[in-house]
Amino acid sequence: MKEQIQQRANELQEQLVEVRRHLHRYPELSFQEHQTAAFVLEQLNSYGIDAKLHSETGIVALIKGENGDSDRVLALRADLDALPLQEKSDKNYCSEHSGVMHACGHDVHTTSLLGTAMILHDLRSSFAGTVKFIFQPGEEKLPGGASIMIKNGVLKDPEPQAILGQHVFPDLEAGKVGFRAGKYMASCDEIYLTVKGKGGHGALPHKVIDPVLIGSHIIVALQQIVSRRSNALLPTVLSFGCFNANGATNVIPDEAKLEGTFRTYDEEWREEAHKLIRQIAEQTAGSMGASCEVKIEKGYPFVYNDPLLTDQARSDAEAYLGKENVVDLEMRPTGEDFSFYTHTLPGTFYRLGVRNELKGITSAVHTTTFDVDEACLSVGSGLMAWLAIQNLKR
Ligand code: NI
Repeated sequence: MKEQIQQRANELQEQLVEVRRHLHRYPELSFQEHQTAAFVLEQLNSYGIDAKLHSETGIVALIKGENGDSDRVLALRADLDALPLQEKSDKNYCSEHSGVMHACGHDVHTTSLLGTAMILHDLRSSFAGTVKFIFQPGEEKLPGGASIMIKNGVLKDPEPQAILGQHVFPDLEAGKVGFRAGKYMASCDEIYLTVKGKGGHGALPHKVIDPVLIGSHIIVALQQIVSRRSNALLPTVLSFGCFNANGATNVIPDEAKLEGTFRTYDEEWREEAHKLIRQIAEQTAGSMGASCEVKIEKGYPFVYNDPLLTDQARSDAEAYLGKENVVDLEMRPTGEDFSFYTHTLPGTFYRLGVRNELKGITSAVHTTTFDVDEACLSVGSGLMAWLAIQNLKR
């Protein structure tokens, strides 16, 4: 079976490169993936795979194994959306949509899952059980396409018992993959603070309530949440990347706006920290005669990789790629809406190596020069097909 999948994945490689380059040329922003979804639907249908639109710009497809009866259902997921970046590339598949770019590899995830679907469709007479393919919109934008598709019933009828997802990883060479059991990626929430004081002439500070100084105090005071209030064993991040007061050298403005991100790996602590942020910001402002409006936009929960499912997938991956090509991942405080699935059913989110230093492919995701070694396409699609078949056997 392994050899069959590897051979089929290699045969598909050229076609997958074409698919990936098409997707890369015509990226679409979150929840606007109309052309992308139509393209994926057409690819699946023309291969004889039963698929339909879901949640406007998502696709769900089903492949039923024909080697006996089984109630087992496994879901496999990819994301379709691109980012608002202007690509810098001299490749002929550079984005043709100005200001939009597949800078997070979702073109690779989509192509790879299409390849997996083709392989499993070809091999359907040799496994039992059902594979549900989820091509979801809007991974990059709140509230996350995953949460919308789940609300719209993507995990019902038939109901999967587990879900697998993969993401490109430019730290890892093409040909390798990485796994991590347990907590993997962080919850991420957006913090918006508006400090309201009273503006005036910079030369007459006794006549103003200075929102710039008070905002500075708030940022410093909030750091105690990480250094004093959080459990030292639980990773927590609080970063402010925007402090906008819009005054001048001699003008103190009426208000200052601060924007930041809060990340962690525990739902209870996450709730408590939100309360602390609110309390410390409001009270610090109040103690200096100002007020602070606090808005916290809840983002994605943390990604929890089911330990048993992850260990099984990891050893299946070793059998498929060789021990030397499977690595352990560190925790990573970036966010990912795959987390919504992992809080609903056992799931594992693993990383697909795409790096190739000899070819100069080293750029990080979310940068204007991000690219992948396309050798990852047959690896990604073949491995996922293999993981699916192994999982359905259990
Ligand atoms: Ni991504």
